Amino acid sequence: MATFKEAPANANAAEKLLTWVDNRFPATKLYNEHLADYYAPKNFNFWYFFGSLALLVLVIQIVTGIFLVMHYKPDATLAFASVEYIMRDVPWGWLVRYMHSTGASAFFVVVYMHMFRGMIYGSYRKPRELVWIFGCAIFLCLMAEAFMGYLLPWGQMSYWGAQVIVNLFSAIPFIGPDLSLLIRGDYVVSDATLNRFFSFHVIAVPLVLLGLVVAHVIALHEVGSNNPDGVEIKAKKNAAGKPLDGIPFHPYYTVHDVLGVSVFLMIFSAIIFFAPELGGYFLEYNNFIPADSLKTPLHIAPVWYFTPYYSILRAITAEMMYALIAFVVIGAALAVVKVKMGGFLKLVVLAAAAAVVAMMLSIDAKFWGVVGMGGAVVILFFLPWLDNSLAKSIRYRPDWHKYAYALFVVNFLMLGYLGTQPVSHIGERLSQIGTVIYFGFFLLMPWWSRLGKVKPVPDRVTFAAH
Ligand code: HEM
Repeated sequence: MATFKEAPANANAAEKLLTWVDNRFPATKLYNEHLADYYAPKNFNFWYFFGSLALLVLVIQIVTGIFLVMHYKPDATLAFASVEYIMRDVPWGWLVRYMHSTGASAFFVVVYMHMFRGMIYGSYRKPRELVWIFGCAIFLCLMAEAFMGYLLPWGQMSYWGAQVIVNLFSAIPFIGPDLSLLIRGDYVVSDATLNRFFSFHVIAVPLVLLGLVVAHVIALHEVGSNNPDGVEIKAKKNAAGKPLDGIPFHPYYTVHDVLGVSVFLMIFSAIIFFAPELGGYFLEYNNFIPADSLKTPLHIAPVWYFTPYYSILRAITAEMMYALIAFVVIGAALAVVKVKMGGFLKLVVLAAAAAVVAMMLSIDAKFWGVVGMGGAVVILFFLPWLDNSLAKSIRYRPDWHKYAYALFVVNFLMLGYLGTQPVSHIGERLSQIGTVIYFGFFLLMPWWSRLGKVKPVPDRVTFAAH
């Protein structure tokens, strides 16, 4: 049995209670490890608000979700009306519902900013690979959570969006049709689908999400935070063993984060109170019409946060397959000519390329669209091993790297915009170019991240008090 600590003789009741608790549960130890004694770099900037904001939105979603479930009915004949009941009759129901629907979009805004911060400061690189991987898994869960949540109001977009996306699974060779049947629980999206999506949205995915967030923060606190300079603060410590460039998270960053939270809540409230549909981007107008399995809406588009991936899906047409085949052939030829490897390995590369091309020719483009859409997310997991730059942070990389990241952002926004639009010839071409840029950015990163001359990285972080 662990040795019990005694509270000092002059301790007051609260101190005695804390000692009693500490002897049974590591309350003070956890508080010190993760807040008072967690040293974070002193040069955090605007980009470092988004982790705590993601935690805040997570809490908002869980709390408002609990209250929504009290009145919502997961039944195809009642679901739509129960949401209307929440909006009109439940006291403050409109607020809870708008907080939840706006929270879904806010979650993606915050998480996209948070991920981009990781990309520009190289926060995914050694020793933070697992922090990043847990993050990518969180992102996948968030997408699943948002997709299944969107079916619940049982509006036209809920219904047809789910129909389109679940049907995609049937494009997978051999198992596809059975898999989509398994997901729907029926031959079309129906009450069975609504019930299983409800159960996943309300309990299964949030449980996994919470576990992953805990793992994400534990992994981060094990290795310590990165910072805008990409300098490891643990390399320079004072006599007491504390990083010279670090400051305790509490009170410094708890106060700092209050600023981020305040600004965020102002914007969040402004949207909830003045523009909860945000011009059809946060809540689509078609979703105010009850689901009708006999009436397909003219234009089906997912919510904005999925549209970059939706564009990639739509970009991969039968025609685009020829371009992709050309990329595979050129890639294999370059690998064989440029990379030093034995004759046997060359044969393996060529055989693998031939097999891929044969598959690309024989399987429907729709399937490759699904592969492209999934691959666009999966490729993020590999980022720590794709980046070869000698400097972690964008600050010390060659200047033109900034343009590469700017191009990536503009391209991602373009794909996002195109995904909200009906199919058009020009839109299709642009999303094909966008898809090539998206994958080119990542797949060619091992090569381009090495190019150019990096600037000298300082020993200590740069910081000017303001
Ligand atoms: C529910 C979603 C998420 C929550 C609650 C969350 C929470 C946090 C928190 C509290 C931090 C420390 C504060 C900060 O650095 O901003 C952090 C850091 C980090 N997160 Fe997340 N995160 C989430 C999603 C993600 C995703 C999707 C990714 C990437 C795919 C990611 C990658 C990272 C990285 C790389 C760091 C370390 C940053 C650095 O030290 O420079 N996170 N996260």
